[in-house]
Amino acid sequence: MEHEAPAETLIIDGSPRAGNTQYVCERIKAGLDHPGRIIKVFNQKILPCTGCMACNKKLPCGLDKKDDMPEIREAIANARVLVVGAPNYWDGVPGHLRTMIDRLNPFFGDGHVDERVYGMPYLQFMVGGRADQDFCIEQGLGGLKRHLGLQQLDSYYSQAVKPRDLRKQPEAIQVAIDDMIRKINAAVAASKR
Ligand SMILES: Cc1cc2nc3c(=O)[nH]c(=O)nc-3n(C[C@H](O)[C@H](O)[C@H](O)COP(=O)(O)O)c2cc1C
Repeated sequence: MEHEAPAETLIIDGSPRAGNTQYVCERIKAGLDHPGRIIKVFNQKILPCTGCMACNKKLPCGLDKKDDMPEIREAIANARVLVVGAPNYWDGVPGHLRTMIDRLNPFFGDGHVDERVYGMPYLQFMVGGRADQDFCIEQGLGGLKRHLGLQQLDSYYSQAVKPRDLRKQPEAIQVAIDDMIRKINAAVAASKR
C-alpha cells in the first residue's frame, strides 16, 4: 500500500466500488479541519486470519510480513478519530472489511486492549439498498466498537442502491454529512486539549 503522512482522522472505506460509501468518505475528508486519510480496504492486501491465536499471547501475527495489515493497524493506532463506512452486504459488512476487522485482533490481545486504541472516538455509517435497516450497522460493526472499547460519536444509515445515487442527490445526505464533520472536528479538537 502507499505510505502516507499520519492522519488525525482515519476513514476506512469498506466498499469495493467507487459508489455511495466512497462518496461519503470523500465528503467527510474534504470537510475536515485537520489531516485526514481514507483507506479503501478493497485496494489493500489483507490475508484472512487463520485463528492461530499468536496475537492473544502478544506474539507477532505470522501474516504481518505478507500483507498491508501492519500499516493499517498503525494508521488506526495513530489516529485521533476513527471513521468506518460500509455498504450493507447481507445485513452486515462486505467480506473484505470483515477480514480486516479479524486482523485487528492484535489490538485486542488477551482482552487488554491496546491503550492507543481503547476509548478512541469513533463514527460509523452504512449505506444500504433497503430503508430502515439500521440494525445491520450493529450486526456488521458492533463487535469492532465493543471489543476495542471505541467511544461512539454517532451512527448513520442511508438508503442508496446504484453507485451514483448519493452523488446525484447530495441533499439526501447533506445534513448527515455536515453532522458527521462537525462531530469529528470537535472530537479531534477536544483530543488536543
Ligand atoms: C453482495 C451484496 C449484498 C447486498 N446486501 C444488501 C442487504 O443485505 N441489504 C441492503 O439493504 N442492501 C444490500 N445490498 C445493496 C447495497 O448495500 C447498496 O447497493 C449500496 O448502495 C452499496 O453501497 P456502495 O455504493 O457504497 O458500494 C447488497 C449489495 C451487494 C453487492
